[in-house]
Amino acid sequence: MTNVAQTLPVPNAVGELYDRLTLSAMNDGTFNPNVHIGYWDTPESDASIDEAMDRLTDVFIERLKVNASSHVLDLGCGVGGPGLRVVAKTGARVTGISISEEQIKTANRLSAEAGVADRAVFQHGDAMRLPFPDKSFDAVMALESMCHMPDRQQVLSEVCRVLVPGGRLVLTDVFDRFPRKDVRPQGVDKFCRDLMSTMADIDDYVPMLHRSGLRLREILDVTEQTTLRLSYELAKVPVADERPAALNEGNFEFSDEAFKPSDLEGVDDFGCLLATAERP
Ligand SMILES: C[S@@+](CC[C@H](N)C(=O)[O-])C[C@H]1O[C@@H](n2cnc3c(N)ncnc32)[C@H](O)[C@@H]1O
Repeated sequence: MTNVAQTLPVPNAVGELYDRLTLSAMNDGTFNPNVHIGYWDTPESDASIDEAMDRLTDVFIERLKVNASSHVLDLGCGVGGPGLRVVAKTGARVTGISISEEQIKTANRLSAEAGVADRAVFQHGDAMRLPFPDKSFDAVMALESMCHMPDRQQVLSEVCRVLVPGGRLVLTDVFDRFPRKDVRPQGVDKFCRDLMSTMADIDDYVPMLHRSGLRLREILDVTEQTTLRLSYELAKVPVADERPAALNEGNFEFSDEAFKPSDLEGVDDFGCLLATAERP
């Protein structure tokens, strides 16, 4: 277990946070269909952040093992970028779920614009209580959404319930690289507080998957390919007026010292794990 107490995210508040982030990204021209970190295969890779974001979805696709007859659940689907890529690359049908109404509106608009509204459908809902019958999906993907869940074990049990036997779960999650530290850098606490996230303990993951009824196929520490490389890429971006205004609106307690990316300068506490599991 990690030594530092972490405040548990509240799903409705996470939804409101992503509503604000989605609207402000559309207003200020920073909208991106992917809301996740990138994946750089090698330290030599010169992929841009956008290319690396798509690459992370492709890393998921390689593990999901789905095809045109599969139905995939995108758990914490954001504005639909990854789900739409799964549809385009595999032909699978995707149902996405997000706790943010604004993300869902946007994701369904993008799906219609891509002409795949019959293959990619996004709906509002809480991953803690999935609104789907047992055994309704061939695969589940969770790109960077587990960090917002107040109870990871509960979500994994729900995933197991909705998967068909033999169905796969692929997820990424952030973990604390230094769980024995008594004090964490301020930037980590600000990030977790303002982006309503917690860090997992990587040592807990396999037992947690097993307790939920899933069986581990693979767990990889992809910190070098993701979080560490992203912090290096972000350091190259000019820091002019970088504070994400959406974090402040209606959230005055954070107004003076809201998290900004430069708070993470030199911080290497965030690890990233990539896990693939299967319902037996
Ligand atoms: C960092 S974003 C990742 C979005 C998307 N997977 C992507 O890669 O572009 C986290 C997502 O998790 C969703 N989320 C967080 N808590 C949730 C919950 N309790 N139920 C459903 N979705 C949730 C958020 O609404 C958001 O869509």
